[in-house]
Order: sequence, then structure tokens, then C-alpha cells
Amino acid sequence: MHTITLIPGDGIGPEITEAAVRVIEATGVPVRWDRQLAGMAALEKYGTPLPEETLESFRRNKVALKAPLTTPVGGGYRSVNVTLRQEFDLFANVRPALSFEGTRARFDNVNLVTVRENTEGLYAGIEHFIRAGRETVAAESVAVVTRLGCERIVDYAFRYARQAGRRKVALVHKANILKCTSGLFLEIGRQVAQRYPDIQFEERIVDACAMQMVLDPGQFDVLVTTNLFGDILSDLAAGLVGGLGLAAGANIGEDAAMFEAVHGTAPDIAGKGIANPAALILAGVMMLEHIGEQAAARRIEQAVRAVIREGVHVTPDLKPGSGATTQEMADAIVAKLR
Ligand code: NAI
Repeated sequence: MHTITLIPGDGIGPEITEAAVRVIEATGVPVRWDRQLAGMAALEKYGTPLPEETLESFRRNKVALKAPLTTPVGGGYRSVNVTLRQEFDLFANVRPALSFEGTRARFDNVNLVTVRENTEGLYAGIEHFIRAGRETVAAESVAVVTRLGCERIVDYAFRYARQAGRRKVALVHKANILKCTSGLFLEIGRQVAQRYPDIQFEERIVDACAMQMVLDPGQFDVLVTTNLFGDILSDLAAGLVGGLGLAAGANIGEDAAMFEAVHGTAPDIAGKGIANPAALILAGVMMLEHIGEQAAARRIEQAVRAVIREGVHVTPDLKPGSGATTQEMADAIVAKLR
């Protein structure tokens, strides 16, 4: 029996969580869900967006499936997602971007994975305003890049490539301008690459890389990069294959792993029952792979592909004018499970 911390989240979170749970349970994999609150739902009930019970559950189970959480823009509480990644040292954010037949995507040959450093860089949380009297005259954010952080993320990307039968790792940087932070990342990346002679290594400058991804995404395999660049490029990659409704991600540490949809809480459609559950279901596929349930993972992925290819029981974001609801799409996926 696998015990998994389940965080239904905010906005469309509870709707897509219900769908994902139903699909995963339909495979027959023995799962016990340890349901916990975080984000706005937790703030309303417990007065904190990240209750100790939720942390304790994740500490105990070491695997979590998490729906999106509200993060206030500007002021308010700190992102719970960022806090969880740092608290559990979930240093590798793995975000595949795969083409799905039947979507209105710009390309049909994308099969790349962004491996993003998840705990340091400009998201280290070290920032402040500089005030002169009552006036705010400047703001500073400190990007932290450590030898350990670079070494383990690049090494993870190479190990991942080898394990997944991939051939090439591109290290994405901006070392021509950010000579210290990006420079250190590049220097250590080159050293790590020498340990993997069977995997091709290349270096890309982030701005040119973004353009190349839009022009010819088929040339990319595994990308490894620092936190901010990885955040942006993985969303760009999601756009290439038809948007956030199909983008899943894993946050992996030495001791724990958390799986999530890349998209947010979609407040504009929350409660309407029309959110696309595929991204969270695909996060569930990554989770099943992580816990050693490869066969169930493949069955779900194929069922999702079949439903999207047929284009009948899909939510309106995938096919404008479609009347399919979140739960109808989940039912169609369950019906396709072999
Ligand atoms: P968003 O991803 O929630 O929404 C952007 C657009 O995509 C909206 O039009 C939305 O309706 C649509 N969309 C997103 N997911 C969808 C789905 N599954 N099916 C159909 N349409 C979908 O991004 P936004 O509006 O910037 O953020 C809303 C909230 O979510 C904010 O509080 C933000 O901080 C939070 N957020 C949380 C994340 C997480 O917990 N991992 C990630 C990104 C944002």
C-alpha cells in the first residue's frame, strides 16, 4: 500500500484532484490518500497557509500529489510552493513538455524535459527594499548559486537523461552577463558533463535558447538550468505543446518528492466544473513512476493520449465550444484504461 499526502489546493484544485484520484484508483494501484490542507483553504481553516499537520504528513509519507495553491501577488504570505520546495530541499523541478496528438499546438514533434534548479538562484527569498526616510528608492533580490546546488542539479539532469534513454543535455545560462552566478553554474556544469561521456553536452545562452525553442523545439532533449530561467523556459515549452492544461511537474529531493500540475488555481473558471484535469493526472503519472508503478503510469498516459486524440470528451480549453466537464473527461480516461 502506498500512502500519499494529497493536497487538493485552491480554486480549481479540488475539482481536478477528485478527477485525478478517480483515474489513479481505477488502475487498481493500492493507494491510501492522506488528505491535507495548504494555501488559502488552510489559511481560512487554521490561520496559516502551511499547517504543521500538512508538513508532518509530507515528512512521514515522503510523496505528495499537490493541486495548485493561491499565492498572493506582492504582499501577503510567502508562496507555499516555494516554502515546501525549500523546507524539503526538493532541488530538482522536472517538467516534461510532450506533444499530444489532437491538440491545437504549434508543433507536433516536441519531446523535451526541463530540469530546473528549484531551491536557489533569484528565488532564494533574499530580497528587500531600500528606503530613504519614508520613500522606497530601490529594491534588491540576491541570487544565490552554490557549488553544491549546481553540482547536484546538473548531475541529476545527466542521471535522468541516462535513465530515460535520452541523448543530450543542454545547460542553459547567461554567463556572458551574470559572470558570477551563471558563470559558476556553467563552470561546474562542464565538470559534471565529463562524467557522462555517453550523453551529449551543449551550452546555450538563455535568450538565444528561448528563440530556438520557438523556432525549432525538436532539437531539444533535456535542458538543465537555474531557477528563474527554468521557470520561464518550462512555461514556454508548455506553450509549444498546447498550453498549461497538459503540463505536469515533479519536485524531487533526496528524501521526498512532490508532484503537481504546472498551472495555477485558475480563479476565472473555479467552481464551474470545466477545468482540464489532464495536467494533474499527468503529474499522477510521474508520481506512479516515482513509486515504482510503471505499468499503471503507462496505462494512464495512453488513456489520456487516446481521449485527447479523439477530442470528444475534452474540456473547452482543449477544444473551444466543447461541453465536456472535468469529471466527464476523467470518466472518459477511466473508460480507456486497459
Ligand atoms: P493560472 O495557471 O491559474 O491561469 C492562467 C490561465 O490558464 C487562466 O485563464 C486559467 O483559466 C487557465 N487555466 C489554468 N489551468 C487550467 C486548467 N487546468 N484547465 C483549464 N484552464 C486552465 O495562472 P494565474 O491566473 O496567473 O494564477 C492564479 C493563481 O494560481 C495565483 O494565485 C497564482 O499564484 C497561483 N499559482 C499557483 C501555482 C501552483 O500552486 N503550483 C502555479 C501557478 C500559479
